[in-house]
Amino acid sequence: MTLSALPAPPPAPPPAPMGRGTLSRQLVVRTTALVAAVTVALSLLTALAIFQVLQNQLDSKLQVAASRPGVRYGQGPIDDDNGPGDLGGAGLIRLDLINGTWSLSSAPEAVTKDEAATLVNNTALGHDPKTVAVEGVGLYRFVRVDRQNSSTIVGLPYTEITTPMASLLVMAGLLTLGAILVSYIGARRVVERSLRPLTRLSATATQVSNLPLDSGEGHVPIRVAPGDANPASEVGQVGLAFNHMLDNVENALAARHRSETKVRRFVADASHELRNPLASIRGYAELTRRGSDELPADTAHALGRIEAESERMSVLVQDLLLLARLDSEPTLELEPTDVTEIVLNTVSDARAASADHTWALDLPDDVVMARADAHRLHQVIANLLANARTHTPPGTRVETALRAEDGWAVIAVSDNGPGVPAEIQDSVFERFTRADASRVRQAGGSSTGLGLAIVAAVVNAHGGQVSLDSRPGGTTFSIRIPLA
Ligand SMILES: Nc1ncnc2c1ncn2[C@@H]1O[C@H](COP(=O)(O)OP(=O)(O)OP(=O)(O)O)[C@@H](O)[C@H]1O
Ligand SMILES: [Mg+2]
Repeated sequence: MTLSALPAPPPAPPPAPMGRGTLSRQLVVRTTALVAAVTVALSLLTALAIFQVLQNQLDSKLQVAASRPGVRYGQGPIDDDNGPGDLGGAGLIRLDLINGTWSLSSAPEAVTKDEAATLVNNTALGHDPKTVAVEGVGLYRFVRVDRQNSSTIVGLPYTEITTPMASLLVMAGLLTLGAILVSYIGARRVVERSLRPLTRLSATATQVSNLPLDSGEGHVPIRVAPGDANPASEVGQVGLAFNHMLDNVENALAARHRSETKVRRFVADASHELRNPLASIRGYAELTRRGSDELPADTAHALGRIEAESERMSVLVQDLLLLARLDSEPTLELEPTDVTEIVLNTVSDARAASADHTWALDLPDDVVMARADAHRLHQVIANLLANARTHTPPGTRVETALRAEDGWAVIAVSDNGPGVPAEIQDSVFERFTRADASRVRQAGGSSTGLGLAIVAAVVNAHGGQVSLDSRPGGTTFSIRIPLA
């Protein structure tokens, strides 16, 4: 695990305008589809209505032509300027059946005699007009009018309907396409403009998510612009709610900061105030021991305990004071410092403190210089070495390695002891975290659980990082601080 401000995961890049899955794309596609469906349906219905009107017109022309007496036409070609030409237009076919013989009045080339015979015998033709395909000339609309001893069949070419219908359909198709295109462009403009506040809102949220809210006074200086927080619109309501949420977060953070400051000040004041009485206790104990040559055994023992415990308490108070100071104003005196020398010194101190452990060193050839507070860095490495000494059995090998890497001085203290208990690994750098009581007693009973908290606080104040990798038989505490 690594203890340092974890970088927030990078925010997702904003989606491409009209990209897959975007709301704008959905809105534009759906609006355009709706407009397309309505326009197509409307065009088809209009075409159908016009078709009906044209067919009715053709049918009334047929009725008029059929009601005229046949004699007016005579035989032979139809004169377009007179008679049937005026009634039926070009292409009129007229068959008159009188006493079993029929006569054909139409353009002579239009209908053969055989065709005419087929038409006369077509029983389907009646008073209601019918559309019939005439070989060689195409579709015709026919009506048959039967009188007492004569019948008349009149036909007009169906192209009188199909020709205008074809142009009408082409025109309607073009207009429909135009309408769809215009609605697509319009919908895109409108949707993009309406969703712009939402894009700004998401940019604001991203800015807030990048703020370092875990430290400092919890001031959140970012708000959604008033124009985008107008409750009259749905997006404005989201903007307004977002601003309320930020107010709330800011208030909560400020309250937390105030109470943390209070606790820190209390711990610092209490530790400070405890130093004087502790110094007095130790002084009086020493005075008592010096003042009398022969002390009864139990008094000597009690005096020894008073000295040892007050010594332990002094260390504890010093640790607490240091932590409280690092919390409130983490200002160390950082200057180019020879880390190699500090590592050498601390390891030789450890060697002197315990001959039961094997103390190995792994140093680079060149001196490593870091921006550090020499006194505090010494304390950090000493704490790690003290842990490797007190929390591992005799015979354990402890190696201290130093290297310069990518702008960092990396110090790693590794041992082949039993490892940091799994249940405290996640919180081992927090204050007062230590293994359960039985293990602590084995380690000599003087454990407070502040050592690694100080390591983490001092290293963070250096702008560095601490990390732990531990399993039974292999534990490594690494710290890295910027090179000088
Ligand atoms: N090298 C190690 N091997 C195994 N356990 C370790 C090692 N270093 C630390 N620990 C465990 O982590 C706990 C926390 O260590 P930390 O240095 O913070 O406190 P401590 O050593 O118990 O007390 P203090 O250092 O304040 O006297 C220890 O109690 C111990 O259980
Ligand atoms: Mg310790």
